[in-house]
Amino acid sequence: MELVEVNSVWKSYPRRLGMRTEENAVVQDVSLSIDAGETLGLVGESGSGKTTVARMILGLVNPTRGTIRVDGVDVATASTEELKRLRRQMQPVFQDPYAALNPRMNVLEIVTEPLVIHEDDSGAALGNGSQQRRTALRVKCVELLREVGLDESALTRHPHEFSGGQRQRINIARALALRPNLLILDEPVSALDVSVGAQIVNLLRNLQREHALTYLFISHSMPLVRYLSTRIAVMERGRLVETGEAETLCAHPRQAYTRKLIAATPELPAGAA
Ligand SMILES: Nc1ncnc2c1ncn2[C@@H]1O[C@H](COP(=O)(O)OP(=O)(O)O)[C@@H](O)[C@H]1O
Ligand SMILES: [Mg+2]
Repeated sequence: MELVEVNSVWKSYPRRLGMRTEENAVVQDVSLSIDAGETLGLVGESGSGKTTVARMILGLVNPTRGTIRVDGVDVATASTEELKRLRRQMQPVFQDPYAALNPRMNVLEIVTEPLVIHEDDSGAALGNGSQQRRTALRVKCVELLREVGLDESALTRHPHEFSGGQRQRINIARALALRPNLLILDEPVSALDVSVGAQIVNLLRNLQREHALTYLFISHSMPLVRYLSTRIAVMERGRLVETGEAETLCAHPRQAYTRKLIAATPELPAGAA
């Protein structure tokens, strides 16, 4: 079943050229699909348009042309109700694990914030009395922290007290809070040391198995994308140049650009696989 369907999508931004303004197409005619339960790897050099595709799937920016459907709903024209449902279903994890975390909030507040925001839908689950509600949030938070390899000692601590890898674990716990079925992972380990990144990648892999999650995994690193992905889509300057089964595409790349990406990046360190 197709969970995400990107159909001939374009995105242009105005660019000033002296006295004139010109439309600069940063995403051009991109079509791709993501099946429920799979990982689609989206790989390409910096500036190739990967994040723009991610932001359009998340409904944060609208395509200039083309359509994007998530679970059958056109993201650009969805009603408020439909968008609310999609927001629960689809969660992003971004590159910079610190920027995404509010430094004034503690881990309990950060991880359970999505539950509080969507409380009108999940209110029953949180209980009615304020004490009952606090207990329910705490229990849920500890459960989420354990899933990402942290424990309750983190609850009252703040983002600056954690390492980069731990911060990304907190982001992932928060992304899982509403029990989504789709994670949009935009360079989730690019800001981390290689060995720390490998641990996060393994965590993502285990979480996917446990929760039957669907991933869009974005990275400029072909070995990382290959390690996690069922299929890979290769982006070059706004266009998809090659899409295929991960192993086939890496063993028999058809495009020179794909071969360049394979050659450009070192293998994962021993222990990652
Ligand atoms: N809001 C924006 N306004 C103008 N240009 C943008 C905007 N967002 C992205 N771009 C441009 O689009 C291109 C693709 O960017 P991006 O999607 O971030 O690529 P990637 O994630 O592959 O590095 C870049 O040249 C970038 O400068
Ligand atoms: Mg990007």
